[in-house]
Amino acid sequence: MRILTGLQPSGKLHIGNYFGAMEPAVKLQEEGEAFYFIADYHAMSSTADPSALRENVKELALDFLACGLNPEKAFFFRQSDVPQVNELAWILSSVCPMGLLERCHSYKDKLARGLSANHALFAYPVLMAADILLYDANLVPVGEDQKQHLEVTRDLVGKINDLYGSETLVLPEARIRDEVAKVPGLDGQKMSKSYNNTIPMFGAQKKMRKLVMKIETDSTPVEAPKPTENSIIIDLYRFFASESEQAQMKADFEAGGFGYGDFKQRLFDAYWEYFTPMRERRTELEADESYVNQVLTDGAERAREEASKVLTRVREAVGLS
Ligand code: TYM
Repeated sequence: MRILTGLQPSGKLHIGNYFGAMEPAVKLQEEGEAFYFIADYHAMSSTADPSALRENVKELALDFLACGLNPEKAFFFRQSDVPQVNELAWILSSVCPMGLLERCHSYKDKLARGLSANHALFAYPVLMAADILLYDANLVPVGEDQKQHLEVTRDLVGKINDLYGSETLVLPEARIRDEVAKVPGLDGQKMSKSYNNTIPMFGAQKKMRKLVMKIETDSTPVEAPKPTENSIIIDLYRFFASESEQAQMKADFEAGGFGYGDFKQRLFDAYWEYFTPMRERRTELEADESYVNQVLTDGAERAREEASKVLTRVREAVGLS
């Protein structure tokens, strides 16, 4: 089985990225051949700052390795180190109906927020399909927001295989676990850099605590019982706390006598402790830049080998060779 996922280097990774994609990816690396990459071509659809892009790539590499990506088990690479992906994207583009892309939420959302879309943003799902199909991936661990992109990918496989033969591309499947599909942000919407409601995985303690204290709550007074339904605090606490700690928090919500600040502090403590081993590993990795670079160089080399095999097969099928 081949497992593949990618993350965009577009700023600090947050706990939505972690629980939606990274943690599942780290678990899955034990179960098959894993391809994990930094989607730097994709990040270009929303940034034009070369030094920020370089810095974000470096940070993402540190984050993913600190979280347990094992380069002995998974190929870890930069997307742009395998430029073959662009050729496959072009081949897929030629069978991709405009309507399929016009219906994509991420593109429509951006337009709705008044941002001007470029061709890269519009064609984004085609490049993402190429990312997946270039490695004959079977399973793609992602969060809920990528579901539609996986559907586009599967549609494109159908079109290519109908036109050029059923063995041309492998049909991948999304792995979206219900419990982590949509990690909420500080305001209860999906946690997302675009909504400015994230809790980063790593950051200075004081700053992170301040963020957690910003979680939106109602104005129930300290002494009164608090509603547990739709509580962002409870929703986030389940990621970090044991069953009994969660039950205790719910009981304290219902009993009254505790303010929201108290619950936020408990959430912060649990979050901070959860990421402590990874934070320590990250500090070690930061001091060893050449190791991190070597991991990405080796990963890219292996990824290019695999990519060439698939691309040779596809080029032959479509008549390019
Ligand atoms: P990106 O960089 O926006 O997000 C990386 C991963 O994090 C997941 N995620 C979440 N999961 C749960 N709750 C949230 N609040 C949350 N926010 C983000 C995303 O679903 C994603 O899995 N298009 C992709 C990158 C990509 C890719 C690929 C992924 C490029 N090529 C090929 C898989 C396969 C993206 O922008 O993810």
